[in-house]
Amino acid sequence: MRVVLGVAGGIAAYKACSLLRLLSEAGHDVTVVPTAAALKFVGAPTWAALSGKPVSTDVWTDVHEVPHVRLGQEADLVVVAPATADLLAKAATGQADDLLTNVLLTARCPVVLAPAMHTEMWDHPATQANVSTLTERGVHVVPPASGRLTGKDTGPGRLPEPEELYAVCERELARSRFAASAAGAASETRMANAQASATRGDLTGRRVVVSAGGTREPLDPVRFLGNRSSGKQGHALAAAAAARGAHVTLVTSSPADLPGVDVVAIETALQLRDAVVAAADEADAVVMAAAVADFRPATYASTKIKKTHDTGSDGSADDSAPTIALVRNPDILAELVTSRAGGTSPVIVGFAAETGDDTGSVLDHGRAKLERKGCDVLVVNEVGENKTFGADDNTVTILRRGSDETVEVGPASKAAVSDAVWDVVTTLL
Ligand code: CTP
Repeated sequence: MRVVLGVAGGIAAYKACSLLRLLSEAGHDVTVVPTAAALKFVGAPTWAALSGKPVSTDVWTDVHEVPHVRLGQEADLVVVAPATADLLAKAATGQADDLLTNVLLTARCPVVLAPAMHTEMWDHPATQANVSTLTERGVHVVPPASGRLTGKDTGPGRLPEPEELYAVCERELARSRFAASAAGAASETRMANAQASATRGDLTGRRVVVSAGGTREPLDPVRFLGNRSSGKQGHALAAAAAARGAHVTLVTSSPADLPGVDVVAIETALQLRDAVVAAADEADAVVMAAAVADFRPATYASTKIKKTHDTGSDGSADDSAPTIALVRNPDILAELVTSRAGGTSPVIVGFAAETGDDTGSVLDHGRAKLERKGCDVLVVNEVGENKTFGADDNTVTILRRGSDETVEVGPASKAAVSDAVWDVVTTLL
């Protein structure tokens, strides 16, 4: 797909070289548009050599090709990394005094801005107001990472690593592609892109909670009962919500560094319940994508359970296999529904991993579970050997309580599935 990589004048411009590499190696057609200040950090020959295309900063080169309009119009994604405070201000106020700012005004595709600057500049009310304006317009502003800045100081303001920015770009491109295929025709890509771009800020101001991954129920200090859930779908849901402007709390057993997401690490079902219930208090939506263990060992052995253990008063060795007694874990989804006390907030979404059997199809089991659990939305997927666990793609059916309509998604990336889930949730908010 066609990507414009804008580079503004900050020391982190060197990281954009790696981002350019990642995008090109993934097969995208990347045009680099640096600002004049960016060229003080990384020169035009570097960008030209890495992208295989000429580079210019102003609107007076190759005027007959009208690049100041064409580049933005034809792009499937515009990403600016790093975006300086000055670039954010220009973008927010619609200034167009060089090629990059012209591209930003003419682009109708998803736009990702990755700010990088000193903490004081990032925290300044002027910068924050510009970020709010841009986010409300549907621009995806990737929050800066915290850490070592140019000098000896540390704090928020670092450009996230190129791999993270690349993942954000791919998610935005996947959203455009998914929207395009949902619209039914490749020729309608531009229209679908416009639709995708219209949803990008639609969770702004909303708080959402996502649980992800499988729980681990300890038996002793070295063993646990667990399951095969990778947490990928839950993480994709959190990332998609952040991309749409939500404040996201991700409660997960496989912590990951996701830009713009508050991550709470848990292991057991009981820890997951505490974290989700605490965060759900102020939430507009809770998505339970975690694979919560229904049972946990009744007792926890504080020392390792040995293969052979002494038994009875005579001290004789016992080689028999121990029996593990289990007790039920709380049903967190059902508890969330009950604690709404008949109200409608937060919107509650469950996941159901099902296999068809003699008593019914995957969908029959899904519908029965939706009724039983009382949540608003149930995302049903078929599981089994070599299906879903750990995969990057997913195929789901989204059911809504009180509606016979179903939304079928996939096979599609977990990012695309996530957006389809949020599309349904936003209709209920
Ligand atoms: N869930 C939960 N608490 C549990 C078990 C499950 O909150 N103790 C949530 C999951 O996060 C998921 C939904 O309930 O969103 C459905 O999970 P599933 O395991 O399919 O449901 P169960 O009620 O355990 O049904 P089954 O008997 O089919 O396992």
